[in-house]
Amino acid sequence: MGRVDGKVALITGAASGLGLESARLLAKEGAKIVLTDINEKDGETAASEIGGDSFFIKHDVTSEEQWISVIDQTMERFGTLDVLVNSAGMGVIGDIEHTSFDDWKKVHAVNLDSVFLGCKYGIKAMKKENGGSIINLSSVSGLIGGYNMAAYNSSKGGVRLLSKSVALYCARKGYNIRCNSVHPSFILTPMVEQMIDAAPDPVKAKSTLERQLPIGRLGQPTEVAHMILYLASDESPFVTGSEMVIDGGITAQ
Ligand SMILES: NC(=O)c1ccc[n+]([C@@H]2O[C@H](COP(=O)([O-])OP(=O)(O)OC[C@H]3O[C@@H](n4cnc5c(N)ncnc54)[C@H](O)[C@@H]3O)[C@@H](O)[C@H]2O)c1
Repeated sequence: MGRVDGKVALITGAASGLGLESARLLAKEGAKIVLTDINEKDGETAASEIGGDSFFIKHDVTSEEQWISVIDQTMERFGTLDVLVNSAGMGVIGDIEHTSFDDWKKVHAVNLDSVFLGCKYGIKAMKKENGGSIINLSSVSGLIGGYNMAAYNSSKGGVRLLSKSVALYCARKGYNIRCNSVHPSFILTPMVEQMIDAAPDPVKAKSTLERQLPIGRLGQPTEVAHMILYLASDESPFVTGSEMVIDGGITAQ
């Protein structure tokens, strides 16, 4: 028996990084996966690697129409939705004086509007059957500020409190739907690799990041995927409205 045997999980941002690693792990533990992403090529490759009943849908998470369609396609194919992982997101560096209003709006659309839409339409599907688990990727940047992360901090802080509001609403309605946020620090995914590679001295940039982490190294995607697996499974029925920190000790200081 897998830890999420027979469950249906919809994972956004599943073509890369934490979404992809979660899709692999949940599939290995028995779930049927609907992978979604704007990156069609890598999304299709990921779905065929995972195999089984899993399939890919091209999906821009900022579009309400596409969310409605993705949830409808999931229900048509599998008849239920048990787990929603909102992993699609983008990183952006910029302080308050040098972030354009366009960048601000884009980051909030991709990182926060997406989670609002996912929760709104995810709940609609989950409440028809046996309830479910919604897992929203925030960040340590949703817990602590950085001088050059104005838009990212704001979007990820929004994901943290939106998740609590959703958790409390579902509890009050008796829907049996849990909602939690996950807060990683620096995890070695393409998002962080690109940030390191873009630095004038990538080796120095990587070691600067490592030095910020009390544990002395960057995290691995599988270390976050295992938290997502726990939240997706029936091992966490009393866990809702929580913020799960996976940060190598950075916020313990
Ligand atoms: N990697 C880290 O260190 C880290 C730390 C904290 C939080 N996070 C958060 O975890 C989540 C996953 O990050 P990752 O490191 O796996 O990044 P990643 O760049 O490897 O993957 C993000 C995925 O989101 C997709 N995406 C971007 N915009 C989209 C859109 N509009 N619609 C649909 N898909 C879209 C991309 O195509 C990509 O496949 C993000 O929300 C990120 O902010 C990551």
